[in-house]
Amino acid sequence: MWWFPDLGDQVLGAIWPRRMPSAVHTVFVSDELAVDAEVLAYYDQGRERTRLERTSRLEFLRTSELLERFLPAAPTTVLDIGGGAGAYALPLARAGHDVTLIDPVPLHVEQAREAGVQAAAIGDARSLQFDDHTFDVVLLLGPLYHLPDRDERLAALREAARVVRPSGLIVASVISRFASTLDGIQTGFLIDERFEAIVRHDLATGQHVNPQRVPGWFTTAYFHHPAEIEDEFNDASCLVQELLAIEGPTSGLHDLDVWLDDAERTAILLRAIRRVESEPSLLGSSSHLFVVATPTPSSAPSGIS
Ligand SMILES: C[S@@+](CC[C@H](N)C(=O)[O-])C[C@H]1O[C@@H](n2cnc3c(N)ncnc32)[C@H](O)[C@@H]1O
Repeated sequence: MWWFPDLGDQVLGAIWPRRMPSAVHTVFVSDELAVDAEVLAYYDQGRERTRLERTSRLEFLRTSELLERFLPAAPTTVLDIGGGAGAYALPLARAGHDVTLIDPVPLHVEQAREAGVQAAAIGDARSLQFDDHTFDVVLLLGPLYHLPDRDERLAALREAARVVRPSGLIVASVISRFASTLDGIQTGFLIDERFEAIVRHDLATGQHVNPQRVPGWFTTAYFHHPAEIEDEFNDASCLVQELLAIEGPTSGLHDLDVWLDDAERTAILLRAIRRVESEPSLLGSSSHLFVVATPTPSSAPSGIS
């Protein structure tokens, strides 16, 4: 399950204005920072703290193993942009990295601090409050799919390229263009013609809009086609080094918890995903994709070698 299907939530359509991605309503969470009101309202429901332990267990396992594989050995300095409640920041800090988490949702910053992430602050991927070349590693595990406009995603990537050291790494996750189709089949959401209309729009544009705010159908987002990722990163001074499936082709697996509750079956499943994680013809079947990039030399500000 690639998104946040908490069907027990109340219907929120009544309190959210209908909007398309180009007409973003914003809320000021501090004097400087304006956040998309929909993102804020979505996460203010408090789903993020437990999501990875419940509906997104495979995403967590695979993202953790990929981080371990690609991040340099501790200690490094890590900026976790859109770090949520600290799901990855905390283990990285425990492993000896010096981790700074930023997130535009005050609840997440509070939860991350409570969980033990000491350097957690309000911040926005599109405009970072850090000096050039400050971090060895910059994580963008979430913000890119919350930025439906390409220019805003480019701004976030350029900021990541600016604050990372020239020899550093930018690690991002995106949602696949085909995630809602696959999830709609698995869950049966596609039987609802409103969901089918959303999926048609997703496929045509990448922009996922849930105008009636139906619980379980996610919030406004951008779903990347695997074939567009390299160019998008390139256009923002980031050179893609690896593009890998996070969950792999597991969307149809209705008994995923049975696999994950059994250590031996989990190991078999993880080995199966690893064997096809970089297979181009299967990338789009993974709910999330993992991107490892380096800043292009031209992203260095003038005067700094
Ligand atoms: C699905 S959560 C992912 C949290 C965590 N990184 C993870 O992988 O589990 C997406 C996160 O992106 C954050 N986010 C949304 N828009 C953002 C923006 N413009 N800048 C930075 N973070 C943003 C959200 O507040 C949320 O914490």
